[in-house]
Amino acid sequence: MSVGIDDISFATSNFYLDLKNLADVHRIEADKFYLGIGQEKMGIVPADEDVVTMAANAALPIVQGIDKNSISTVLFATETGIDQSKAAGIFVHGLLQLPQRCRVVELKQACYSATGALQMACALVARNPQQKVLVLASDIARYDLNSSGEATQGCGAVAMLISANPRLVEIAPESGHYTEDVMDFWRPNYRSTALVDGKYSTKIYLKALKHAWTHFHEVSGVTFEQLDYFCYHLPFSRMAEKAQLQLAKYCKSSADSETLLAKIEPSLHYNRIIGNSYTASMYIGLNSLLDNADADLSGRRIGFFSYGSGCVAEFFCGRVVAGYREHLHRARHQQLLNARQELDYNEYLRFYHFEHPTDGGDHQFACQTRGHFRLAGISQHKRIYSPRS
Ligand code: CAA
Repeated sequence: MSVGIDDISFATSNFYLDLKNLADVHRIEADKFYLGIGQEKMGIVPADEDVVTMAANAALPIVQGIDKNSISTVLFATETGIDQSKAAGIFVHGLLQLPQRCRVVELKQACYSATGALQMACALVARNPQQKVLVLASDIARYDLNSSGEATQGCGAVAMLISANPRLVEIAPESGHYTEDVMDFWRPNYRSTALVDGKYSTKIYLKALKHAWTHFHEVSGVTFEQLDYFCYHLPFSRMAEKAQLQLAKYCKSSADSETLLAKIEPSLHYNRIIGNSYTASMYIGLNSLLDNADADLSGRRIGFFSYGSGCVAEFFCGRVVAGYREHLHRARHQQLLNARQELDYNEYLRFYHFEHPTDGGDHQFACQTRGHFRLAGISQHKRIYSPRS
């Protein structure tokens, strides 16, 4: 029996800023963003979109196609927590009308926690192959205005159904881990934007890659050449290119850069125009690879490098299942991205400065999202979610 990803779907905001606008305001060339960090657009959420609505919108097409009673567990990975106590996944559980005989937990470790969730989900399914686990990863990346991180903001959610004998990607049991107590990127409870030591964070990312790879290679015996494609954590797409070239060098690969970068290129399409979505980003990268690779990936082996600042990293691999293309949500993803609305810089600032009220009063939010679910308001400190009418 194999265990892995049976279905995958993502959602993002229907608003974005083209980074050319940011470059104009900062009086720098747009190519610094387009080429230098490899990002074109960043998704920006309106007042009635948050990690819950994006996750529920990502998961809806998955749960519509199955017997909901088979879902025993919902694992919700995020670093954009909306409550210090209640798991955001419980709101999603309610919106999707999942069975009450189900457990729901929220996981946190920066951008890494969706991988922790995926591995826990695989372990649960291995223990009882009748059950399915819904893994959700949803985040809104926010940095200070005019900071080095501003151009790497974004938002998105991914939903993955983990099952026995999956239809998309079988996840191998071996993986390599790395943990080190560092302060490269963090967000204290009293801040709505992340603090980051940008250059240092990229160095730690690459250091963690070497260590996680070494551990993975030791426990699995898998070599760099045996991996056909790679999905890296994607804070910005140039980071994945640097990681791929560094790992190839570390593994003494003789492949040229063009060949090496071709192994990650299809995984970058969506993130380039969504921006960083923290926990979701590597898995939106996987979704991009499956949706956009011209070649049939059946039987191909994918290496995954998940990184969460602070830091925890993991390298693992999976094999694409024959016939996977019949089970993708490619058309819906394309439609979602094509229907997005561009914001100008002043509109971006208005969205950026909006803060959800904290006074305990009754507040309704204008309907701006085009997703199926929305945050309709906050009343007496309670978030009110509903389908969009
Ligand atoms: N045309 C083409 N390229 C240009 C250019 C132009 N006109 N102008 C500059 N560039 C290039 C630079 O040469 C540079 O290339 P190299 O990386 O190859 O040297 C690249 O653009 C970036 O330029 P800078 O190094 O000057 O960029 P910066 O310092 O302003 O910002 C950053 C880079 C520090 C990574 C910043 O984006 C940042 O702070 N990001 C947030 C933190 C982050 O994402 N860290 C990643 C690791 S941590 C992690 O992964 C967790 C997470 O999700 C946050």
